[in-house]
Parts: sequence; structure tokens; C-alpha cells
Amino acid sequence: MGLLGHEDSTGAAMASSRTKPVKAPPPVLYGKDFARLWDKNWAFFDYDLWPFIRRVVRAKAPVGRDWLDVCCGTGVLAHLAGEEGYRVTGVDRSPHQLAIAAERAPEATWICGDARQLALGRRFDVVTCLFDSLNHLTDERDLARALRRCAAHLKPCGLFIFDVLTAEGFQTVWRGADVLRDDGSIVVIEAQFDALDQTGRCHVTGFIRQRSLWRRFDEEHVERAYRRDTVEGLLRR
Ligand SMILES: C[S@@+](CC[C@H](N)C(=O)[O-])C[C@H]1O[C@@H](n2cnc3c(N)ncnc32)[C@H](O)[C@@H]1O
Repeated sequence: MGLLGHEDSTGAAMASSRTKPVKAPPPVLYGKDFARLWDKNWAFFDYDLWPFIRRVVRAKAPVGRDWLDVCCGTGVLAHLAGEEGYRVTGVDRSPHQLAIAAERAPEATWICGDARQLALGRRFDVVTCLFDSLNHLTDERDLARALRRCAAHLKPCGLFIFDVLTAEGFQTVWRGADVLRDDGSIVVIEAQFDALDQTGRCHVTGFIRQRSLWRRFDEEHVERAYRRDTVEGLLRR
């Protein structure tokens, strides 16, 4: 017997042995409300990193070349790379992050998709995947898949730049609670890292002001720490 009934053509609810259990929908991550707040409070990372990334890329790939930013978020890096003269494509699985990215850099190409299944049918001179994005893949096999897909989109001698947060990084950054507040929003971040399963959990509770009311949203972000030698091993495969 399935968990839920279904409706027949008259609309009456039925349950039968052929009814498949209905899976719970995946949790919304980087949804509409959080995407705006994320862009406002956390998108600084790529701005800080840009002088380094720019220098490394310019040494290998002259401007005008093709650049793919995987897990591109709200498009900060893509925007900077586009301004520099690169032809940028950004991929992310959150349509809400992508909507902000498209506002920021309308000239870039934006694609909603999963890094683990990336199949764009073309290759790039530069592939990037920054700011803990790969840590969102909590199963090592998924990390391996995403790395393989990135490699498959690189031209020969192309440049792949990425970061992965280690346990030490999580222990430093994912700890305790923080409250960010402005006129239109309040967001409470509660983060902790479990060294036993090498997993960081971050609960976000947000309130968005709508006239005299506040709309609440919640997101639970789970990320996994990876050791440097694990990642190096996956890259060599
Ligand atoms: C911490 S943000 C970093 C965004 C951007 N790379 C940056 O540097 O600002 C992580 C992003 O990865 C995206 N993401 C997580 N898992 C993904 C997956 N499997 N495929 C595509 N995007 C993913 C999220 O939607 C989110 O926008």
C-alpha cells in the first residue's frame, strides 16, 4: 500500500497497491528570500578573491576566452570575469541565485543545473567553482562526479580553480550563532560542525518585513568537510 492515495478521474481519493510512496520534496536551499540575503551578506568572498583569481587566470588564459563558473551563486565572479573581457557561463541549481546573477551580469549566459550532471556539450578555457560550493556535496561519490564533470568541460591545458573547506575551516567558521539585521530583514544563523561525521550544519531563520508584518523562512544547510588528500585522490582518478 502506498503512503498517499491518488485521485481518480472523478476526483475521489483512492489508494491502491499500485500507488507509489510519494517522496518528500527536497528542502529548498538558496530560496527566494535567502538568495537576496545571501547576496547582500556573503557575496563579498569573490570580490576579496578576485585580484588573486584574475592574476592566476590572466597568466594562462588571455581575455576573450571562455569561462565556466560552476555553482555560480549570485554571479559576482562571473560579473568580474565578464568585465575583464572573458565570455562567461554560470551554472547553479538555485533559480533564485541565478535570477540575481542575471540582474548583475545580463551579458553572461546563465544555466540552471546540477554540477553533478553538468553536460553543456562544449569546453571552456577556465572552469571555477568557489566559496565552499563543492562542500555542499555531502557524499564523496557526488564530489567525484562533480569534479569529473568540471574536468569534462575543460579544454586541453585549461585551468580549473576551486576551493574546498577542510575540517579546520569549518571549525573556525561554522560555530555559534550570529544575527544580521537591517530595516527590512533579520536573519539568525546557527552553525555547528560535527567532527565525528565531518559535517557542518547551518540553520538559517529569516524574517522579511512586509509592511507591518514579518514573513518567516527557514533553511537548513548541510556541508561536508573534505581532506586535501581525499580531493587530490579524486582529481587523479
Ligand atoms: C556558498 S554559494 C557560492 C556561490 C558562488 N560560487 C560564489 O563564490 O559566490 C554555493 C552555491 O552553490 C550552489 N550549489 C550547491 N550545490 C550545487 C549543485 N549540486 N549543483 C549546482 N549548484 C549547486 C548553491 O545553489 C549556491 O548558489
